[in-house]
Amino acid sequence: PATESKRLRIAMQKSGRLSVDSQALFTSCGLKINLREQRLIAHVENMDIDILRVRDDDIPGLVMDGVCDLGIVGENVLEEESLQRKLDNDSFDYTVLKRLDFGGCRLSIAVPQEENYSGAASLEGKTIATTYPRLLARYLKQQGVNARIVNLKGSVEVAPRAGLADAICDLVSTGATLEANGLKEVDVIYRSKAVLIQRKGLTDERQLKLINKLMPRINGVMQANE
Ligand code: PRP
Ligand code: ZN
Ligand code: MG
Repeated sequence: PATESKRLRIAMQKSGRLSVDSQALFTSCGLKINLREQRLIAHVENMDIDILRVRDDDIPGLVMDGVCDLGIVGENVLEEESLQRKLDNDSFDYTVLKRLDFGGCRLSIAVPQEENYSGAASLEGKTIATTYPRLLARYLKQQGVNARIVNLKGSVEVAPRAGLADAICDLVSTGATLEANGLKEVDVIYRSKAVLIQRKGLTDERQLKLINKLMPRINGVMQANE
């Protein structure tokens, strides 16, 4: 709907774990982007593409609602948004064009270092802070565990020390954040990488041609990185 200009709109994370690698991928694919300015929309100079730089959490919704044609986002954020939309009876259609070779991380349960943990049953009756309440709820249900979920948008790792929660469920990449906060990773509940997604119902021929031109380049860049 919002693509009247017919320029292909690609959403990427503005700042965070995926932004440097997303930008590097575009550059390796030959896109000339002026990202020096802190602007929401960056025009690609040599192709009919606009890059939208937004919060990662907003990317699945932008693609599912057809506001952006493509997006690069973590599978964890994508899955969380899909689960939420299923619950809300909202549409959550998209196509994964490519699983990328960056943004690897795991969504894990972590508890204070001195705490004993012997599997999910240890979480029974506990309070768990997370930014991913739907993925956590699904895991707890699968494990048959009843726990209270506290939804925090940030600073999840300080919740136990602040007395807000007994445990957390957060993304772990290097493990430095957990370590710095006296926490230990005890269970992995979801493994994630960055993916390139496309909105459903994209029919414009010029846009489809552009995507068909981009995909072999992305594959080539990934092969070269292997
Ligand atoms: C995650 C998580 C931790 C950090 C863990 O945040 O919330 O803050 O990464 O990484 P580490 O194990 O290497 O220390 P993320 O960068 O995904 O982003 P956001 O919370 O800003 O969306
Ligand atoms: Zn985020
Ligand atoms: Mg974080």
